[in-house]
Amino acid sequence: MAAVSKVASVTQENLHAMDRVTALYQDVMGEDLHWGLFADTTDTLHAAQKCLIDHIAESGGVNAATRVLDIGCGVGGTALHLARRYGCPVVGITNSAVGLEIAERRLRNCAEARVELRLEDALNTNLPDQAFDVAVCIESISMIPDPNALLRKIRRLVRPGGRLVIADSFVHRMMPAGELAQHAQEIKALRLIFGVGTYSKLEDYVPLLHGAEFKEVSCLDVTSQVLPTADHVVSKMERDWSALSSRHDPQLVQAFLQSWTFGRRVFAGGFSNYSIVRAV
Ligand SMILES: C[S@@+](CC[C@H](N)C(=O)[O-])C[C@H]1O[C@@H](n2cnc3c(N)ncnc32)[C@H](O)[C@@H]1O
Repeated sequence: MAAVSKVASVTQENLHAMDRVTALYQDVMGEDLHWGLFADTTDTLHAAQKCLIDHIAESGGVNAATRVLDIGCGVGGTALHLARRYGCPVVGITNSAVGLEIAERRLRNCAEARVELRLEDALNTNLPDQAFDVAVCIESISMIPDPNALLRKIRRLVRPGGRLVIADSFVHRMMPAGELAQHAQEIKALRLIFGVGTYSKLEDYVPLLHGAEFKEVSCLDVTSQVLPTADHVVSKMERDWSALSSRHDPQLVQAFLQSWTFGRRVFAGGFSNYSIVRAV
């Protein structure tokens, strides 16, 4: 019972964080609330973000006949890109009414896309078993307080032989206590922006995936290719500082910037890595 209420309270804190930050997030990052995969230093952030989605689509073998579930669909950027580019039907779920409303507005301008958006908690969704060929989780699994339960849920939602593709950050090694203390302010900012992360090690996910009856699991570390995202975000925020601070709570803008400078430090220092995990 205690464990259940802990999951519920973390879910709630994360939801409040997401609702609070979504408009600012979108102002800075565009329709994709995730890091980009840079093939080249001249890529724009937008192109790199779409490149990450395409990499995930290829990894999941997405084509026009693939039924895709986008778990933690943000403001709909991934779902719409997959539906438009690959012609596939996509169901996007999010627990954020704020994100859903923005995504639905965007969807209204793309009547041709086969996208259905739903307000659902991924841990308690009523979607039918085996309804999907591919599930994708882009930077959402790290916000969900019971990844083990989530993976088991996804295993049921995806048909046998179906794929799960996760793109997220994972702990690699602990930052020394002295350096952690120096970053106390940024860590506080991170929690204000994203809530309580699960911050697991990638090695810990592999047994969870096997335990959830995913048979083949492969991991690709793309940290160096996503790292330029932080420079793009920090430069954009510095450039647009006064406009951002007039449109959003200036304290939130400051915290968002700090969360990105800290993210850059943990990736560049080898404390976390960004990986794409494929499980069948
Ligand atoms: C960092 S955003 C990433 C959004 C999107 N995947 C993207 O890349 O643009 C995390 C998303 O996960 C969603 N999320 C977090 N916890 C969730 C839960 N328990 N159930 C459903 N969605 C959840 C948030 O509402 C948000 O849409």
